[in-house]
Amino acid sequence: MDKKVHELLNQQINKELYSAYLYLDFSNYFKANGLDGFANWYMIQAQEERDHAMLFYTYLQNENQVVTLDSIDKPDKVLNSSMDVLKAGLEHEKLVTSLINDIYSAAYDVRDFRTMQFLDWFVKEQGEEETNANDLISKMELFGSDPKGLYMLNQELGGRVYSAPSLVL
Ligand code: FEO
Repeated sequence: MDKKVHELLNQQINKELYSAYLYLDFSNYFKANGLDGFANWYMIQAQEERDHAMLFYTYLQNENQVVTLDSIDKPDKVLNSSMDVLKAGLEHEKLVTSLINDIYSAAYDVRDFRTMQFLDWFVKEQGEEETNANDLISKMELFGSDPKGLYMLNQELGGRVYSAPSLVL
């Protein structure tokens, strides 16, 4: 495997684990503020991020590439309101999209078609992640300032259930 592609794929394990850690922090924020449904939503989001990390980990191993695990940064977003959390989530997903695009671009440069095919799932997934983050912000803008609306939104998010990723390696 090309050195740069390998390095970026390996780094992405860490970025996805950081994402899981960040969403765990978000879940903790909502739990502490009595919004269990929001806490559930981000807890499941954290599980999905761990799955993403494992997909990069397994892909490298399947390709007989060395995996090197690094330390995970502390979640550093300043969270003073529910909207802060939702907006930080959207910003973070946009960053992850740019990281996936960078790996794709590096793989494209060296005609690494297998890695490009592996990343196709993540390109689509990032579209969904950004849509979900945007939807949450829109719903909060519409209903968040009304106690009944917030209660209903919290109920809705509490209904999210975990499902394993559709990509299996
Ligand atoms: Fe692993 Fe939320 O992207």
